[in-house]
Order: sequence, then structure tokens, then C-alpha cells
Amino acid sequence: HRVGILLSGRGSNMAALVEASRAGDCPYEVVLVASDKPEAPGLAWARENGVATFAQSPKGMAKADYEAAVDAALRSAGVQTIALAGYMRLLSNAFVARWRDHIINIHPSLLPRYKGLDTHARAIAAGDAVAGASVHIVTEQLDGGAVLGRSEVPILPDDTPETLAARVLKEEHRLYPRILAEFVRR
Ligand code: GRF
Repeated sequence: HRVGILLSGRGSNMAALVEASRAGDCPYEVVLVASDKPEAPGLAWARENGVATFAQSPKGMAKADYEAAVDAALRSAGVQTIALAGYMRLLSNAFVARWRDHIINIHPSLLPRYKGLDTHARAIAAGDAVAGASVHIVTEQLDGGAVLGRSEVPILPDDTPETLAARVLKEEHRLYPRILAEFVRR
């Protein structure tokens, strides 16, 4: 099963997905890593690790033209499922409709709590005892599609958003490959 990953930054979840795909007995392979940020560290990692990449900044382009270019790159790579991994751009309704039920995302909260940004600071401010990450299907509603799997971590008394983010991120790297594998086998 051919997976394309969209990212905008560090790419640690992308790397976890690629590494899991190479560990053997994995039902997916990552055939393309695409980014809206040509300087994203995740793109460099993908290149160094032998994964095909596509880098296209949307600057100066109409959104529809930018998305058409991304769509064409994904289709020419034969991508069947798109995994968003720190992709910081909202996909249009038209793009989501073209890939309906074939886009998943990882979000650093226990959805449906804390959609959007600053999830860890919000969880700490609310006095929550647990935080975590969720993998969900991408729909037109931001962070609103069906949840495929979640992983919990404790929030400790001295946590800052940074220490909590690091604890959650470790779980993301375990959760995302497992859920993506289940998803492509469905
Ligand atoms: C992760 O926390 C992910 O949950 C969120 O964006 C962050 C991406 O980190 N959607 P990385 O680029 O995978 O390291």
C-alpha cells in the first residue's frame, strides 16, 4: 500500500513512519514525502534516507493551483493514502473531497479535546491529569474526523508545554505507525 506524507517541519513522525515501514512485515511503504516548506528539516531527512520528495512553496500561487501541484505529485507517485505529519496548511474542501477517507492525521491531544493549536498548554491550564495524541481521518472539519486510535500519557505536576510535548511525541512515534498499518489493512 503506497503512502504519501505531507509535512511542514521537523518530520519526526514521518521518520517514525518510514522506519516502521522498513522494519519488515509492514503493509505500507512511504513512496513520497511532500512539503510546503522547501527548507523543512523533514524533507532533508527523507532525501538522506532514500525517500522521494516533492517540495513546493505555495507563495505567489493560488491555493487551487498549489493543491493541484501537490495532487499531481501524489498521483504520479501512485499514492493511495495520505498521512499528514505536522502539515501546517489547511487542505481545501475540494482536496479533502478528492481524497475522501484516504487522508489521516496525527494530532497532539486526546481528541475530541483541544482541536487546533497549543494543545499542551491548554491541557495543563485546564488541570488535566492525562494528555496524549490521536490519529484521525481528515474531513472538512479541523481535527474533527473519526478517531482511529489514541494514546495517553500522564501530565506531571512540574510539566511545562515543552516537557509534556516531548512525552506525547514519543507516544506519537509509536501510535502513528501502528494505526497507519491498521488503516491500510482495513
Ligand atoms: C506533532 O506533534 C504532531 O502531532 C502535530 O505536529 C507535530 C509534528 O511534529 N500534528 P513532527 O514534524 O512530526 O516532528
